Amino acid sequence: MNILITGATSGIGRQLAVDYLAAGHRVWAIGRNEQQLEELAGLGAETGAVDLLDREATLAWFGRLDRIDCAILSAGSCEYIDLPDFDSALLARVMRINVETMGHSIEGVLPALRRSEAPQLVGIGSAAAYLPLPRAEAYGASKAAVAYLIETLRITLAAEGIAVSLVCPGFVKTPLTDRNDFPMPFMVTTEQASAAIRAGIAKREAEIHFPKRFTLLMKAASLLPRGLWLRLAQRMKKS
Ligand SMILES: NC(=O)c1ccc[n+]([C@@H]2O[C@H](COP(=O)([O-])OP(=O)(O)OC[C@H]3O[C@@H](n4cnc5c(N)ncnc54)[C@H](OP(=O)(O)O)[C@@H]3O)[C@@H](O)[C@H]2O)c1
Repeated sequence: MNILITGATSGIGRQLAVDYLAAGHRVWAIGRNEQQLEELAGLGAETGAVDLLDREATLAWFGRLDRIDCAILSAGSCEYIDLPDFDSALLARVMRINVETMGHSIEGVLPALRRSEAPQLVGIGSAAAYLPLPRAEAYGASKAAVAYLIETLRITLAAEGIAVSLVCPGFVKTPLTDRNDFPMPFMVTTEQASAAIRAGIAKREAEIHFPKRFTLLMKAASLLPRGLWLRLAQRMKKS
């Protein structure tokens, strides 16, 4: 397969790039970190130093692609809001990095996906979007937006035969979660995350979520009456 991966210079995206290269696929790895891109080039990837916040630069770079069979959009970031200061600049920043970059990537990669006989578009969301979590006002809102964007595209792109998957990871040990200062239950390694995502992609699953012991708990909690969840979440925040 010809596979394009954004966020390929770190964490989940990087592991996917390494694993797909090892399995003999052609990989286009996108990121900004030049040193990481060089390392991926050394492993055989085609690399692109692209700031995905820059729409024109993204469209120009992606416009050079011929055929992509699978586009995995993993670029993103996480920041938390610490009240009493509601930092609207933080909210805007997180929305831009998680949602706007995905929009630019989708616009850029769709023509190359349309040249594939079995195209797949894969967006990395988060299990955080399943229900409101303390301090995740910005991150959760951005990932809820990603979920809506990807799940709507699944409906509209089906007519063209483009399979669309939403990936909802629980906690994965990466530089993103290394910054967290709270307990992260059922955390998995990037190797485990990559294996789960690649298995889901191979089956063209609509939603790829893992680890199940965490994501199923979150899905069950999302069905609780909001008043009960409010009390549980407040207790979680205190601890
Ligand atoms: N780790 C988790 O527990 C977890 C859980 C649920 C969902 N996720 C989601 O999974 C995805 C990957 O997370 P991760 O943990 O692997 O994070 P990470 O290690 O921090 O990697 C983030 C990646 O995004 C890229 N990126 C950020 N802004 C960019 C921009 N403007 N232009 C181009 N590339 C940009 C970074 O590239 P450079 O470093 O080269 O700038 C880096 O490759 C994110 O969408 C995250 O929200 C992660």
